[in-house]
Amino acid sequence: MKNKILDLSTLDKEKLMALSVYIEALEEDKKEQLIHVLHKAQSLFGHLPQNLQWFIARKLDLSSAHVNGVVTFYSFFNEEPTGKYVISVCTGTACFVKGANKVLDRILKLTKTTKNKMSEDGLFTIKDVRCIGACGLAPVITVNDKVYGNLKPSDVDKIIEQCRGEDYGH
Ligand code: FES
Repeated sequence: MKNKILDLSTLDKEKLMALSVYIEALEEDKKEQLIHVLHKAQSLFGHLPQNLQWFIARKLDLSSAHVNGVVTFYSFFNEEPTGKYVISVCTGTACFVKGANKVLDRILKLTKTTKNKMSEDGLFTIKDVRCIGACGLAPVITVNDKVYGNLKPSDVDKIIEQCRGEDYGH
């Protein structure tokens, strides 16, 4: 199969340089530090598009499939640009049996989006995630770093409204 050409033209040059410097400065076995490099890349670029994943793979001498496998495994990595509010709906077993799917459906409907895609107004990205370790509060969602538990589908209306309010989080 023909190799794809690594097209970096869509990536900010200064940020790419900062990432290169970060990777070069790593002292231990660089391959083992993929997660750290991905965190750094996401903090610089906001998300991890495919060409950025390829760039990282090349720098660390890993396959792009391996890097993509890690990016897609961990819910805190984003391949797409994310909205101001990242809402993670836990669909682990405890949350699932307490109606997490109804909560998820309600949130998707209210934000007029689909999973992992930023809403048109740029406010929301909705994800479903594995158990976040708060099963006693099932069903649970997080909005950025804030946890909401014991939710009913109707509770999410207020949360979405809060997000839309200008003073949310202040
Ligand atoms: S299953 Fe949802 S927090 Fe554990």
